[in-house]
Amino acid sequence: MTQQVKFGDCRKLIKSLDDESVNLVVTSPPYNIGKKYGEYKDSVTLEEWKELISDITSEVARVLTPNGSFFLNVSPVPDKKTKEIIPLDSVAYFIAKEHGFYLRNAIVWNFNNMQNPSQRLSGRWESIQWFVKDIDNYVFNLDDIRVPYITKNDKRLDPNGGRNPTDVWYFDRVNNMTKKKLNISEFPCIYPTPMIERIVKMSSSKGDVVLDPFLGSGTTLIACENLDRNGIGFELDRGFEKVIKQRLSNETKIQSKLL
Ligand SMILES: C[S@@+](CC[C@H](N)C(=O)[O-])C[C@H]1O[C@@H](n2cnc3c(N)ncnc32)[C@H](O)[C@@H]1O
Repeated sequence: MTQQVKFGDCRKLIKSLDDESVNLVVTSPPYNIGKKYGEYKDSVTLEEWKELISDITSEVARVLTPNGSFFLNVSPVPDKKTKEIIPLDSVAYFIAKEHGFYLRNAIVWNFNNMQNPSQRLSGRWESIQWFVKDIDNYVFNLDDIRVPYITKNDKRLDPNGGRNPTDVWYFDRVNNMTKKKLNISEFPCIYPTPMIERIVKMSSSKGDVVLDPFLGSGTTLIACENLDRNGIGFELDRGFEKVIKQRLSNETKIQSKLL
């Protein structure tokens, strides 16, 4: 399989992709909370954030195949001035509707190991919205993502089966010890690879094309290489080239062909 990375603004880079040439888009845009991502200064206003999401969503709608899916991961974030929590998933939902998408599932990604504020409850979830272009025609490989039954000893259960993983997913965040081991300590916001592998298995087939317009440290391409999909990633910050290459050679089953 080939994994391609292009550096620059995804809103421009995506214009080079043909209509209906991508089977699956999975991404996590910047969350507007002042995280340090190297070149990208994540301190835009909510209006600017909405414009970014709207611009990319419009192009995602164009490049996706008619049965394609768009997975958008965002988090509820505190407003920098008022400290009110802004439900970015709700904001993104209405933008996706404007571009013709249907919400197929609103997945809750639950995790531990995050900050514990003293003035409100500790945040322990992010949202992954699964959008489809056609509510009657989309890829859903349920058998590829089944999880072990809770009641393992029930003889009526098919030993090769497993249950639907539901719309509440627990995946540990990538903690500092793992980052140190993988030599990627400088990067703040890395997807857990098994979570992206679940999405790639669930909503694409071998040989398909998967796009991540906000690639970051390259997790989506690692999932693609391990699962025999062709990946395309766009990233604003060229400073991440080294970490993406390093992860692709250290964390994939074979030495990947990076274009
Ligand atoms: C939340 S991080 C993605 C993390 C990624 N899921 C991972 O596992 O490493 C968002 C990324 O989007 C990048 N970015 C921000 N604006 C961008 C734009 N207009 N075009 C391309 N990348 C952008 C940032 O530099 C940052 O690396």
